Amino acid sequence: MDILILLLILLGALIMVYNITCYSLFLRDTRDVLLSGGNNVGLWRKLALCLLIFFLLGYLFIAIFTDPNLLVALILFFGSVFVSIVLILMFRLLETVKLRSLDIAKALIGVIDARDPNLNGHSLHVQSLTMLIYKYLPRQLKSQINSVSLEYASLLHDVGKLGIPEAILNKPEKLTDEEWEVMRTHPSIGVRFLQPIKAFEDIDDWIRYHHERVDGQGYYKLDGKDIPLASRIISVADTYSAVTLRRSYKPAKTYEDAVAILRDAAGTQLDSTIVDIFLAIPKEEVDACMPEKMREHGDAAEEPRGTAETNA
Ligand SMILES: [Fe+2]
Repeated sequence: MDILILLLILLGALIMVYNITCYSLFLRDTRDVLLSGGNNVGLWRKLALCLLIFFLLGYLFIAIFTDPNLLVALILFFGSVFVSIVLILMFRLLETVKLRSLDIAKALIGVIDARDPNLNGHSLHVQSLTMLIYKYLPRQLKSQINSVSLEYASLLHDVGKLGIPEAILNKPEKLTDEEWEVMRTHPSIGVRFLQPIKAFEDIDDWIRYHHERVDGQGYYKLDGKDIPLASRIISVADTYSAVTLRRSYKPAKTYEDAVAILRDAAGTQLDSTIVDIFLAIPKEEVDACMPEKMREHGDAAEEPRGTAETNA
């Protein structure tokens, strides 16, 4: 066989193996909130993988059992290059869609923050802290959660506060029992807001139960073991953020204060395993999660609104 033909066939085969590897990694890494899309999409994606493998086998069959001429070698080689280009374009397009979706979610969070000055930066803070905890999860816990879905759920966990009257949301004094009843509806309001977005189906429960306590005394009185792992992670991040961010009705507390509060809440309000994982993270990494705009603010020495400050 001519050396040029051999070279083209070898290069083409290598490119096809590379394509199949990239596509397999893509299938593994993108089982997330944006790309789940139901069983049919999953079926088509697997079918595409089968066709790629079939193409590679056909390629090898022609190369080994026939005597390809230059034209056949060129067709095989450029066929592989064409598949590569299509895959690269598809990956880039999906990356752009994902980034833009995250930008839209952040814009929505900006609306919540603008409505409630107390939440200024809180959602972004919770998102960063949640993803930091995720980074430190042991492998067997990590495998239970999709990181992209977790990012959206943590960012949008308080979106339901858009449905809470401003008089309650911005009340500087302690809330009455009736007002707490209204405040406690924000997780379910959030789920209702997100319901039209089919891709968020998987994270509905994560948002719904982000205030559940492991001792079963949360908003829904859900038993600790029934609270989704993602909700338990968001809950720890949410509590730390609520303690360390300054609000109009309370000053910001220090990292050490927050550690004491988290230790106190472990096993009752919060999952003690997740608290332990969080407390083992180097302080500098936790500090780095603080949104830039919140670092510029000083403490305001005002009275706390109530004991549930860490729970709303
Ligand atoms: Fe909340």
